[in-house]
Amino acid sequence: MEYNIHNKLFIFYERLDTFMSKVHVFDHPLIQHKLAIMRDKNTGCKEFRELLDEISMLMVYEVTRDLPVEEVEVETPIMTAKFNMLAGKPIGIIPILRAGLGMVDGIMQLIPNAKVGHVGLYRDPETLEPVEYYCKLPEDAEHRELFVLDPMLATGGSAAAAIGFLKKRGCNNIRLVNLIAAPEGIERVQKEHPDVDIYVAALDEKLNDHGYIIPGLGDAGDRLFGTK
Ligand code: PRP
Ligand code: URA
Repeated sequence: MEYNIHNKLFIFYERLDTFMSKVHVFDHPLIQHKLAIMRDKNTGCKEFRELLDEISMLMVYEVTRDLPVEEVEVETPIMTAKFNMLAGKPIGIIPILRAGLGMVDGIMQLIPNAKVGHVGLYRDPETLEPVEYYCKLPEDAEHRELFVLDPMLATGGSAAAAIGFLKKRGCNNIRLVNLIAAPEGIERVQKEHPDVDIYVAALDEKLNDHGYIIPGLGDAGDRLFGTK
């Protein structure tokens, strides 16, 4: 192919397409409205928790849209007929501690049979790299469709590391669910785990010098648990 500005643009858009094809951004008005309230620095702990719960429930509706179904015979009071029910792998949800915990209840309301595994990671404030301190997964995690939960995808270090732990334990069906992502975080996860679909309520502008998402909502863990 001849190398000129049009080809360069073509290659750029082709890469952008690949970059975005596994990223699902929810632009639903209810989600956007609730998220805007969460972003407000004057929103207190209780309301912040409730909103995260509600948004997580709304998001999982879309995250599960492509789950396989199978026809099952059901006897209604009128007759027997075939209807769709969920088939395929059972679901596991994996909150990244701490802030991912805030997304568990909303999701469990819609998928009450999901098993829950926990991955404990904190971000070293100097290096911004994740440090693991806990990991407890369902025994059959590798046979499940796993949803990794964390409200914030900033540098992507924590999510990429959590997904890496899961893969080392033989898990390969993994989706990442975040409330807010920075492009830097999406890029890192996609580079390290190109097989993983990423679901976000908002794709923000960038990171600041301290690795916080701009405009973001501040420190999700602290706002959720009132630790600052
Ligand atoms: C936050 C957030 C993510 C991580 C995102 O957790 O909940 O886990 O930072 O940043 P990254 O994409 O740059 O890794 P934090 O380390 O503050 O721990 P916490 O949830 O216990 O507050
Ligand atoms: N972790 C958070 O809680 N917020 C950010 O903006 C970045 C990392």
